[in-house]
Amino acid sequence: MNPTWVMGFPDGYETGTFLALDMGGTNLRVCEIILLEEKGEFDLIQSKYRMPPDLKTGNGDDLWEYIADCIQQFIEYHHEVEDLEKVGKIPLGFTFSFPATQEYIDHGILQRWTKGFDIDGVEGKDVVPLFEAAIAKRKLPIKLSALINDTTGTLIASAYTDDTMKIGCIFGTGCNAAYMENCGSIPKIASYNLPDDMPIAINCEYGAFDNEHKVLPRTQYDVIVDNDSPRPGQQAFEKMIAGLYLGELFRLVLVDIHDNRNCSLFLGQDVSQLRKAYTLDSSFLSFIEEDPFENLTETGDLFKRELGIVANKPELELCRRLAELIGTRAARLSACGPAAICTKKNIKTCQVGADGSVFNKYPHFKARGAVALREILDWKPDQKDSVIILAAEDGSGVGAALIAALTIKRIKAGNMAGIKNKEGFA
Ligand code: GLC
Repeated sequence: MNPTWVMGFPDGYETGTFLALDMGGTNLRVCEIILLEEKGEFDLIQSKYRMPPDLKTGNGDDLWEYIADCIQQFIEYHHEVEDLEKVGKIPLGFTFSFPATQEYIDHGILQRWTKGFDIDGVEGKDVVPLFEAAIAKRKLPIKLSALINDTTGTLIASAYTDDTMKIGCIFGTGCNAAYMENCGSIPKIASYNLPDDMPIAINCEYGAFDNEHKVLPRTQYDVIVDNDSPRPGQQAFEKMIAGLYLGELFRLVLVDIHDNRNCSLFLGQDVSQLRKAYTLDSSFLSFIEEDPFENLTETGDLFKRELGIVANKPELELCRRLAELIGTRAARLSACGPAAICTKKNIKTCQVGADGSVFNKYPHFKARGAVALREILDWKPDQKDSVIILAAEDGSGVGAALIAALTIKRIKAGNMAGIKNKEGFA
């Protein structure tokens, strides 16, 4: 439960030009966002850069150099340097979608890498100076105004266009949510002596829920996923439900049935490709669950194409059922996150803004999650859904820009809580 120093919702009338940097998973994204005069309106241009896979397990210096190079390319492509010199430094919101301890909004100590990242020399350090040093080396006209989490961005971006949005969730490579708390309920920040009713967004980091394994039953496949990950014992909940792991769980079950259960799965086939860890991603399961044909011909083609396995009808049916089980468990457990926040905050009715590849692309995820919410929150059969999870506005782009804008706005209004570099903002 990390306080984020995002202190309140936007009113829809924030304006200005901002940069946003989004580092979350497979891609790095740089955006320029213009928040317009009209309520809740904005313009956005963006470029995506593929993160070289070895960067995820490389060293910190290479990461910051790569990020700064991408920003430089973006700026040079979209602007004349002289234009920029005229406007001074552009405020940037950096969406760093990992658990960070923030004593200030322009500060964040990486607690630990998640989602398979394992970059040397960053855990335990404030990522802001590391980022700023790479930016300064290139003399880029940028001022980091806010370091944020993707969930907080999603919360704020969703509320910008719809003020009934109370929770921001990510169901993607990882899973997590943010909501607005009042300062008086947060012992961690009691020493700041902030007014009890002052709002502050909390990044729940509930991917780490049940790391002690006291609540959720785990299968032997969950145990393998955890043991073979770069951080065993961490992100227990996330490892059962997030996009990064669904394909791997599926693969582990098939390998186990093939090797250890006496039922001749893929008999006489070369399963060497299936033996490679993380060879299947969650789109493989999506594809199987989407196969419209009774005889699962598309699934059969997929197995042939991706794994070199010719599967017969019962084998394909087993695979389909397995994908359904893994997808259903993920959706139902995912619903527990927003349900827990609603229960804690006694929210009876609200909208939840959600983003991420699993939410947006995995078949039946939304419907399965909605059924689960109904069960968890114990709605009467004739009661309409009162907590609704909807596709969110772009949190890591617009959300990051808005948070940068909100930070500058509250500094101007004299609220300096959680601001480190006060002179820099001036
Ligand atoms: C992981 C990260 C968290 C992020 C989530 C979704 O759980 O630890 O910070 O919000 O993935 O990207």
